[in-house]
Amino acid sequence: MFEYKKFLEYPVKIKNTNPRLANIIITQYGGPNGELAASVRYLSQRYTMPDKVSKGLLTDIGTEELAHLEIVGSLVSQLSKCAPPEEWEKLQGWEYYSDNGASVYPQSSQGSPFNAASIAVTGDPLTNLYEDLAAEQKARAVYDNILRLSDDPDVNEVIKFLRQREVVHFQRFGEALDKMQSGLKQKKIMGTGLKKCGK
Ligand SMILES: [Fe+2]
Repeated sequence: MFEYKKFLEYPVKIKNTNPRLANIIITQYGGPNGELAASVRYLSQRYTMPDKVSKGLLTDIGTEELAHLEIVGSLVSQLSKCAPPEEWEKLQGWEYYSDNGASVYPQSSQGSPFNAASIAVTGDPLTNLYEDLAAEQKARAVYDNILRLSDDPDVNEVIKFLRQREVVHFQRFGEALDKMQSGLKQKKIMGTGLKKCGK
């Protein structure tokens, strides 16, 4: 079960509206390398991890990604909700406004709605961890791109926090991969999720 705490993992206090930036950052809400994809990926992969430690790692990080989804949603909301329609009209993001208003909808910055095709859940622990390492690097790279496109210090402070967490997640997945690979030398763990179905 999940327990909800009524505060963000990192505070979001944006002073200036900016629909252009909201339209860029939305990709980390519902885009292929975003926080929704990350949380669904890890929370789904955990069921076939071979031991309590790796299951717990995916649960912990998948849960934290939900907290990051909330931070990104808050960023998008605060950047857009009080902006007048004329500000949207100047942007390519006008199409977003016509469908969703100044709300937070899970899509990429190019307008593709969230799609689970951007994640993989293979049942193979090593394959999953390699995917997770790549996912963390892709998310980190998107945050780097956002920092290049943003000149709002209130936004950048939050994005830097999210970027740093991707680096930490990458390190933790790397440690899990090392441990699993050394464990493979002692016993075969591939396909554990299928083997342990008996009562
Ligand atoms: Fe992450």
